[in-house]
Amino acid sequence: MNIKTIEWKNNTIKIIDQTKLPGELRYLYIRDLRVLWRAIKELKVRGAPALGAAAALGIYFGIKDSKAKTFAKFSQDLGRVTKYIATSRPTARNLFWALERVCGVAVVNRHRSIPAIKKLIFAEAKKIIAEDRAACRRMSSFGARLIETGSNILTICNAGALATVDYGTAQGVIYRAKEIGKRIKVYASETRPLLQGARLTSWELKAKGIDTTLITDSMAATLMKQGKIDLVLAGADRIAANGDTANKIGTYNLAVLAKYHKIPFYIVAPESTFDLNLASGKQIPIEQRNPEEVTSLFFKRPIAPKGIKVYNPAFDVTPSALITAIITEKGVIRPPYKKNIKRTLAT
Ligand code: MRU
Repeated sequence: MNIKTIEWKNNTIKIIDQTKLPGELRYLYIRDLRVLWRAIKELKVRGAPALGAAAALGIYFGIKDSKAKTFAKFSQDLGRVTKYIATSRPTARNLFWALERVCGVAVVNRHRSIPAIKKLIFAEAKKIIAEDRAACRRMSSFGARLIETGSNILTICNAGALATVDYGTAQGVIYRAKEIGKRIKVYASETRPLLQGARLTSWELKAKGIDTTLITDSMAATLMKQGKIDLVLAGADRIAANGDTANKIGTYNLAVLAKYHKIPFYIVAPESTFDLNLASGKQIPIEQRNPEEVTSLFFKRPIAPKGIKVYNPAFDVTPSALITAIITEKGVIRPPYKKNIKRTLAT
């Protein structure tokens, strides 16, 4: 099954509405920047690389009807749109990376006409989409080489086709391993509170014919103790210069457990997820989300007393000391991370 998470189609941004999965594969055709902003906020489109693609196309949406006649005026419109998109979700570096990259194209071409700049912005957004497709396949190939046939893999959240343009990072490694003939078995952690593992990853893996078993998050330790897990693969939302990695809440738990049980723990992410301006994970902004995500079952049925205090950070930070390697489209990065991240990304 070919999953196209986000694409440009007939002057609209076509996305899979991920809040409807696994029950229904519904597409949304977005024509308005505010609708896109809400789709990002409400996780209709989600996952760091997919957010980068959405942000890039969002800029084009926001400026394509700008009436500006001078670059100074156009730059104000661009700034307004960029700031607005930046308020949607704070943690995934890819979203900000895409905004900076597209704005950079406008600035470099400031001497051109406004219609020409608009065209270049659109072209850059499409380039970001094409590059994500290629990067995911490349990092997946690097990652698949590390997987031995017969491996049992534990994964968390969704870092698959649904989190990228169409292939995946951590789950991309799984797809590639299968493509090159490796026999693998996957345990998908359900990923409380919004159940990306249960709703999205198990749907995606099943659709692609991967031997998948769904577990609750609290079962990971037991499985490791029973010798049922050979490695952990997780995606990333932002990676600091020292390799500390923000990913879905619960990833840090798995890294600690993996260390204790002497199981390799891999992060799989593209260059666009790295934030080399941040010295360590302490500086990564962590999104706090609606308490109702925790007090109800997917906003439908209450599962906690009304008015209970809730703490709901969407991400945690795994210290780089717990990470065996970071798999990127530029190669596999191993410790010492500070030096090797810089060196690998510079190639
Ligand atoms: O809140 P979400 O669903 O956007 O969180 C997504 C994750 O944590 C993913 O693991 C991460 O973005 C990597 S996606 C390749």
